[in-house]
Amino acid sequence: MCNIGDPEVEVSRFSKVLAGVLHEVLRHRVSVDVAFRRVCGGWCASSVDERELLYDAARRFVADYVKLLCVSGKRRRPRDLVKLWLSGFEEPSEPYCRLSVPLWLYDRLYALLGDEAVRLFEAMSVRVWWLRVNMLKSSIEGVVRGLESEGVIVEVSRDYPYMLKIIKTPKPVRLLRVVREFKAIPHDIASAVVVEALRPERGDSVLDACAAPGIKTSLIAMLAEGRVRIKAIDISGRRITVMRKLMRKLGVPDEAVEYMVADSRKVELREHYDKALVDAPCSNTGAMAKDPALRVTITPGKVEYYSRLQKGILENILKYASRVTYTTCSILPEEGEEVVETVADKAKLEKPQIKMCGEPYKGYSVSQSTCRLYPHIHESEGFYIANMVTH
Ligand SMILES: C[S@@+](CC[C@H](N)C(=O)[O-])C[C@H]1O[C@@H](n2cnc3c(N)ncnc32)[C@H](O)[C@@H]1O
Repeated sequence: MCNIGDPEVEVSRFSKVLAGVLHEVLRHRVSVDVAFRRVCGGWCASSVDERELLYDAARRFVADYVKLLCVSGKRRRPRDLVKLWLSGFEEPSEPYCRLSVPLWLYDRLYALLGDEAVRLFEAMSVRVWWLRVNMLKSSIEGVVRGLESEGVIVEVSRDYPYMLKIIKTPKPVRLLRVVREFKAIPHDIASAVVVEALRPERGDSVLDACAAPGIKTSLIAMLAEGRVRIKAIDISGRRITVMRKLMRKLGVPDEAVEYMVADSRKVELREHYDKALVDAPCSNTGAMAKDPALRVTITPGKVEYYSRLQKGILENILKYASRVTYTTCSILPEEGEEVVETVADKAKLEKPQIKMCGEPYKGYSVSQSTCRLYPHIHESEGFYIANMVTH
């Protein structure tokens, strides 16, 4: 936990970076990646390897935040917590402390899953890396060969062979050649399964209501072999700009996507679409393995806010498509089952035809006909998926 890994790294500089990252997370509620970029912009490491080492330590330190608070007994300044982390401490016995998740989140999940909640949280302390072969630019064999030549060991998913689980890599995933050439994309398998639930086909018109930065949009284009018309909406103009550039790099045909900056809760559209994807903004509690800062920043108030936003978006988008896939990267029913229950009178649920459909939480009227993907079962992020038919 507090092993620096390289004695060469100067301890005081190291501590300063860790404390700075936690300070950014606490103060600005940003991800570890953003906090690290801000803190480590140019000065903090003398080599790429050292930077990676620091980045990895920052992730582990922030992930231990709740645990450190439990051990220290009271709120402490980031630099005191760094000292404690580096000096070592006895593992706390309270489950939420040991798992380093906020008490309210632990209690909520325990009420839903019992002891299984512990396995779920344990799985979220390990990041499983998935790569999606971008078949708009390469083939599965081509990408697997490219990875092998760089010494990467992968396992091809039996359910979705264009998904590759990374077993071992000699360098960070983003630096792999196939990734830099956009022939493969870091893409969690649950997030890919969401698009499988949408079932995009050649000739479809698809409304992507919360589209940026477009990872799922590009998979929609890939599964429809580029022959699809997508209206990509996002409330953030900045994110749409990023998305436009990314779609080009990923080989999504220009004519396949029409972009729109709008609020999907209120947008009025003239056209009706065959399918719509509502990949709604959410607490991201399903992605704690990817971003440990979520253990620090997520609050019940935020969950309530997102739940309201999700209901608003879903209700409006149901007016514009014959089939709608609703999804969130959340392990909480407030952003899944409870959202879909509120539109039960506006659409009929149809169980997603996907190969990895875990049971949703029990006790909801929608439980039988929707799916959840769980980190401890599917080696993925936690996602909720519901398919609705409006006509
Ligand atoms: C989960 S992310 C979408 C990720 C994207 N589908 C992908 O796979 O790359 C949610 C997105 O919803 C956008 N968003 C938030 N509120 C919105 C709203 N009211 N209307 C439309 N988009 C919204 C955010 O800007 C963010 O880009």
